[in-house]
Amino acid sequence: MPVRPKSVGQCQWRTVGSLLMPTTPPPPESRSAVRALLRLWPYVRPVRVRLFTAAFVAILASCTGLVIPLVLKWMVDGPVADRDPAGVWLGALYLLLLGLAEALLFGFRRWLVARPLSHVEASMRADLYRHLQRLPVAFHDRWPSGQLLSRATTDLMLLRMFLAFPLTFLLVNSVTILVGVIIMLVQDWTLGLVILVPAVPVLITCVLFEKRYSGAARLAQDQVGDLTTVVEEGVLGVRIIKGFGRHRSQALAFRELSGKLRGTELRKARLLATILGVIVTLPELAIGAALVLGTVQVADGSLSAGTLVAFLSTALALRWPVDSIGFLLAMSQEAATATDRYFEVMDAEPESGATAGARASLAGGGPGSTGALAAGSRPATAKGLRFENVSFRYPDAPDGSPPVLHRIDLHIRPGESLALVGTTGSGKTTLTALVPRLHEVTGGRITLDGTDITEMSREELRSRVAVAFEEPTLFSATVGENVLMGGGTGDEDLGRALAVAQADFAHGLPQGTRTQVGEQGHSLSGGQRQRLALARAVVGRPDFLVLDDPLSALDVHTEAAVEAALRRVLADTTALIVAHRPSTVLLADRVALLSGGRITAVGTHHELLHASPEYAHLMSGAPAGEEEDQR
Ligand SMILES: Nc1ncnc2c1ncn2[C@@H]1O[C@H](COP(=O)(O)OP(=O)(O)OP(=O)(O)O)[C@@H](O)[C@H]1O
Ligand SMILES: [Mg+2]
Repeated sequence: MPVRPKSVGQCQWRTVGSLLMPTTPPPPESRSAVRALLRLWPYVRPVRVRLFTAAFVAILASCTGLVIPLVLKWMVDGPVADRDPAGVWLGALYLLLLGLAEALLFGFRRWLVARPLSHVEASMRADLYRHLQRLPVAFHDRWPSGQLLSRATTDLMLLRMFLAFPLTFLLVNSVTILVGVIIMLVQDWTLGLVILVPAVPVLITCVLFEKRYSGAARLAQDQVGDLTTVVEEGVLGVRIIKGFGRHRSQALAFRELSGKLRGTELRKARLLATILGVIVTLPELAIGAALVLGTVQVADGSLSAGTLVAFLSTALALRWPVDSIGFLLAMSQEAATATDRYFEVMDAEPESGATAGARASLAGGGPGSTGALAAGSRPATAKGLRFENVSFRYPDAPDGSPPVLHRIDLHIRPGESLALVGTTGSGKTTLTALVPRLHEVTGGRITLDGTDITEMSREELRSRVAVAFEEPTLFSATVGENVLMGGGTGDEDLGRALAVAQADFAHGLPQGTRTQVGEQGHSLSGGQRQRLALARAVVGRPDFLVLDDPLSALDVHTEAAVEAALRRVLADTTALIVAHRPSTVLLADRVALLSGGRITAVGTHHELLHASPEYAHLMSGAPAGEEEDQR
């Protein structure tokens, strides 16, 4: 795998074997947590009424709790001082009712938010998945899958937790603290001021903490993504790892990354411990000081015992709202980071606007933008599949490297099949990927029956062009479902496609075409997978067929049988077939030779054998001494 920088959002990834590591943590000061979290509003909007109601109910519950000290004051100064048992019982009843009301209100709040918030999480996840499907292949080439997976799981969970607790309770606690402090100041303003003394250092600590914690939170969440990537690669590549006895080095890589994550989590815990230490200790000291001062005042007779009891119980009632601020701020920071990470993906330009990306990469040098050419500077040309002056560079290719494809002109007439031949790494797969617009051309244009492919909707384009790639990717579904992904409607189409691809083995599977093929089709042989992929390509009777070396894994007899059947299909299909073997080349009407990023020769197999020494060499099967594997 080439070592190439992966620039993802604010982070740089460097590829080291299977290790993907963020090399630079993001600058925490460049973002504001509040601004990040405000981006959640479109998702929160539909549930705002419930959320605001819940916050209001929580404030009500909290303030109900603050009435308890006032009842205590009334009890101490009234019935207790007067030794009136009936009054004490009445006070106790009030306290019980207030406690009950507080509990019921908090319960009601939970009921209000639980359902809507799981709905928010689900809709954000659905949006992310939909967006991932619409992002161009170039995006997926660049982003490690674990980073995407961790966004869809851990980050969204953090967001739901934020909406459930910190969002409400930062507000509720602030109001509770404010009301509590006012009550205390009204009871006795000198004692109230003593309680307020720690406010300044606590606030400063909170601000400092927020900055540092945000950096650590971002690093931890990125590291979770890296770890997910390693786990995923380890599971998907388990055959290679076992085959080469690499489980130790893989485990080592995993341990290294998880050690780093552990370090970051411990740093987070230390930061949290520091802020909790300050937030808990200073107010406790202030309460202690107020207790001493208050007791002296009661002894002097300048303060009633009931007032001191009310004052202290109010201060104690405020302990939880104050103490929890550390946790709430930490959770909010993590949620802000999660929001950033979520929108880094959501902000990536989806395919419909992908020509913008193609234009950006034109800076490397291509003739005019695709859009300008498409605007009709040339008349609608001949039918069939046509490459006109097509150039292509990968968006992440190093600066100054030559384009993979350079000024390609190629015309495949309607109903014709053209084989594309070239050394390995010459750009054949790249060329075929341009037809269904998996990548955007960086210069020139491609037309289907005279229409520029960038002028068609992707749905239309992809319904007219069917593809089978080198890697026959199958999904965890039944054989039939996998094949019918290519179009077609029922058993008849399925049977025909399986026959063309010589994939009749499917009927002999335990449940026929309803047999599950397992993750990535690993329960099938390589050749079986390839034939199902071929069946998928032909099942929808496409106008245009693009096959990337579709028969490489087949034995000669099966290959001959597939060829015979394909020949019948290809008779009325316009096809571009990447081929390495003469037998596959012979399927096609003509052959084009791709060399050095250009089409250097076009003709029939026999013409090229005579006219092009490079072609003759490629087809001869002689040891390819001068061929350079560029990958
Ligand atoms: N996603 C990518 N990003 C950057 N460069 C790429 C990417 N995919 C392929 N390349 C480069 O483009 C060149 C052409 O690759 P391509 O896969 O098209 O070759 P190919 O002709 O299909 O080879 P093969 O016969 O081995 O399948 C190679 O040098 C390769 O390293
Ligand atoms: Mg290829």
